[in-house]
Amino acid sequence: MSKFAAKAISALFAVALGFLATSAIANTDNDAIAERIAKVGSVCVEGDDCGGAAAPAAAAGARSGSEVYTASCSACHASGVLNAPKFGTSDWADRGAKGMETLLHSALNGFNAMPPRGTCGTCSDEEIKAAVQYMVDSAK
Ligand code: HEC
Repeated sequence: MSKFAAKAISALFAVALGFLATSAIANTDNDAIAERIAKVGSVCVEGDDCGGAAAPAAAAGARSGSEVYTASCSACHASGVLNAPKFGTSDWADRGAKGMETLLHSALNGFNAMPPRGTCGTCSDEEIKAAVQYMVDSAK
């Protein structure tokens, strides 16, 4: 074992002991200590999220129709790729006539060359619906 590793480990023990000794009285130091421990070796204590799984997109609040459209739908719907109904044109007046329920069903499950969820795997049903509404509202 290298001298450095031995030092690092003893430092870790010192910090960990300090942590145990002071956690009951000095809770405010816990973050700083946890941060120092994490630099030596990744320690994950119960109650921490430990930078593991990313929070689900929905937790950050639902994206608006225009945000979802720009991120996931415009690639095809802005210019009409594969005959996708084009944003801001009468294409959407025709589609709108089908009714939201039908359009949403197509958007969620796919419809001919229209891929399920427009390939947005992280979009909630609500976000897909908002994007459909946004495109229907763009009809001229
Ligand atoms: C890979 C290209 C592509 C992407 C990305 C895409 N679409 Fe489409 N979409 C199409 C095509 C092509 C059609 C026309 C399908 C047809 O009528 O045969 C279509 C049609 C639709 C329709 C009309 C369905 C119907 O029943 O008439 C809706 C609603 C729709 N798309 C919503 C979306 C939404 C919402 C997104 C983004 C989350 C999206 N699309 C992303 C290609 C795409």
